[in-house]
Amino acid sequence: MPDKVYIFDTTLRDGEQCPGASLEEAEKLEVAHQLARLNVDIIEAGFPIASPGDFRAVQKIAKQIKGPVIAGLARALKADIDTAFDAVKSNPRPRIHVFLATSKIHMQYKLQKAEGEVLRQAVESVTYAKKKVSDVEFSPEDAARSDRDFLCRVIEAVIDAGATTVNIPDTVGYAFPYEFGDLIRTIRERVPNIHKAVISVHCHDDLGLSVANSLAAVANGARQVECTINGIGERAGNASMEEIVMAIHTRKDVFKDLYTGVKTQEFCKTSRLVSTLTGFIVPPNKAIVGQNAFSHESGIHQDGVLKYVRTYEIMRPEDVGFGESRLVLGKHSGRHAFTVRLKQLGMELSKEEIDRAFERFKKTADKKKEIYDEDLFALVEDELVSIPEIFLLSEVKVETGSEITPVATVKVKAHGKVVEAKAKGSGPVDACCKAVDKVTKLHGELVDYALHGVTGGKDAMGEVTMRVRAKGKMVTGRGASTDVIVASAKAYVNAVNKLIHQQARQGTALAHP
Ligand code: KIV
Ligand code: ZN
Repeated sequence: MPDKVYIFDTTLRDGEQCPGASLEEAEKLEVAHQLARLNVDIIEAGFPIASPGDFRAVQKIAKQIKGPVIAGLARALKADIDTAFDAVKSNPRPRIHVFLATSKIHMQYKLQKAEGEVLRQAVESVTYAKKKVSDVEFSPEDAARSDRDFLCRVIEAVIDAGATTVNIPDTVGYAFPYEFGDLIRTIRERVPNIHKAVISVHCHDDLGLSVANSLAAVANGARQVECTINGIGERAGNASMEEIVMAIHTRKDVFKDLYTGVKTQEFCKTSRLVSTLTGFIVPPNKAIVGQNAFSHESGIHQDGVLKYVRTYEIMRPEDVGFGESRLVLGKHSGRHAFTVRLKQLGMELSKEEIDRAFERFKKTADKKKEIYDEDLFALVEDELVSIPEIFLLSEVKVETGSEITPVATVKVKAHGKVVEAKAKGSGPVDACCKAVDKVTKLHGELVDYALHGVTGGKDAMGEVTMRVRAKGKMVTGRGASTDVIVASAKAYVNAVNKLIHQQARQGTALAHP
């Protein structure tokens, strides 16, 4: 048995059959280019007879993409095969993929044909396709629910007719892994000419077993897997490529020398591209490519990961194109992760300071889902260090409107004296900051600004958080008021006080109030 498992991507064909996921021609090309970078072996570019748009997209992909085999799908009909051939023929490695149902239920209700007729049509269509291309794949649709004797007879006959790949679809996602693995083994044992073709599998996810079924098939001799990025596809979807490939790569103890040629580092990028273009959001807990796939929140897990990353990570995030694992700070996080994050942010604290900050952090985390770096800065600055109010805002007046340049007048108390200043700005907040600068003589740069409603209703308290930079230092200022402009001016003065305090602690003066 060869060791390579061929990866056949059908995102642009079965994936696009996902209700609501249709892609424009240019978008299909973009996905195809990315699939080529991902180094999949075969791209099923579409079903050319389905629509003129599909035909054009397959034709363009066949012309532009070099490297992977480009396949076009066709029913077991001459017109379909002719159209599929016209669409893929410009590629150096064209494949025609012919399918015809073999299960009793499909033959009786859908095709209304007897076994003999289906067998004849399968052979005729493969023979016809073989005259056009050397690479012909045949799929007995609904193979997992087909009578095994009949299925084996069809497979033997299409291989004799020239099929080089026989694909075994679990079209309705009905099989269990042990059954599907057994089906592949049976085909290998019972079909005398099976060594002349690659056994492929194509599993749907109706019972959530598509990946497990595909892997059971590989373990029993399948050497091509049909799958899609993010598992998108008809109904509940197809088997997800990233999960299958990473399972084969990760479980060397099970799959031994088996390998795929996929550049796994491209997975996250490909997943995001497909998600953006189809509008199908990847759930955060999706294996391999979900936002949380490499995030750890619980204290015990974070502690383990920090001590030895393999305690809770079976794959390296960078191997699938994730930047790095994330320690998400939340209510389940422990002191270890908290301290490491503070250090990474450049906040070196004493043990007592960490103890106090950690207590405060736990209280905040109880109210808030995730604690961001901003919150940590504020936590440490606000709670551990008492900031002397060198400057105190006592009054703010702003004239503003759509037709006038905003002008702010502020009264700021400094060293027991109230100083008044007036300034123009590009907006009312800018005018306030500039007026404050005139008093403090410190010219801060507003890097980030956020307004949160603290209470509900029309008279809601607004809390402004702003990041202010001056002379290479950055601090977070906060201010609250029912008037957002007043809250902004307070936040700016708060930031200025922090900047001056930081400088004083480090022995360098920033401003001379
Ligand atoms: O699910 C299926 O059976 C298919 C075939 C066309 C391979 O998509
Ligand atoms: Zn399918």
